[in-house]
Amino acid sequence: MAAPLQTVPKHIAVIMDGNGRWARERGLPRREGHRAGAESVRECVEACEEIGVEFLTLYAFSSENWNRPQKEIDALMRLLESFLREKTPEIHERNVRLQAIGQLNRLPDSCQKQLHKAIEQTAENTGLTLILALSYGAREEIVDGVKSILRNLEEGHLDKAMITPELFGKHLYTRYYPDPDLLIRTSGEMRLSNFLLWQVSYAEFYITKKFWPDFRKEDLHAAVEEYSRRQRRYGGL
Ligand code: FPP
Repeated sequence: MAAPLQTVPKHIAVIMDGNGRWARERGLPRREGHRAGAESVRECVEACEEIGVEFLTLYAFSSENWNRPQKEIDALMRLLESFLREKTPEIHERNVRLQAIGQLNRLPDSCQKQLHKAIEQTAENTGLTLILALSYGAREEIVDGVKSILRNLEEGHLDKAMITPELFGKHLYTRYYPDPDLLIRTSGEMRLSNFLLWQVSYAEFYITKKFWPDFRKEDLHAAVEEYSRRQRRYGGL
């Protein structure tokens, strides 16, 4: 018997890629691509609300992005800080709960402050949960998870026999959220780029050639429509 068609993904994760190429095509500095990308974040959030998606995770800054020229890192951090400062009232108004995953203590102090303020202010909201992956790397997350399990073993809170995939998932940054159902990547690249390696084991992938700053609500709707036509079998029949 055919599996029932899936409708709305509970959790969508997005690799927002192509800001630099979008800017280059227009003869603009890379930071303008990132700035335009912030507008696509708003489109994506609104489309998720329209569809009834519960969790949206955005890959906003990877652990590898620290290797970019300092000028670009500074521009991205400034953009993130002003985004949080200017958009938090609207995010709060929309009943969106803001969360973050990654090695947040590596972010500049002023950015951390703004981020924690936004998280605190929106903590009780019951609409979409918007999760920003910042200074995030999946391999680092897995290593941190292993360390956390080892600590628990040493302190006698855990026994080796208790270590299962479910338990391991509870030691990851994402322990409070369900695994993504749908992973979207823009700019046509077919890579995971150290994003949610553990969590996307059974996610459906949707790749669009559009650069992130060109991503609009209808692109998210198209991805969800395609998702709803796929049959997820989780390795079964
Ligand atoms: C990848 O494009 C994108 C990033 C490294 C940063 C993503 C950040 C934003 C969309 C800015 C706004 C986000 C928030 C949450 C305020 P790229 O620079 O790697 O592009 P390229 O591959 O074309 O060079």
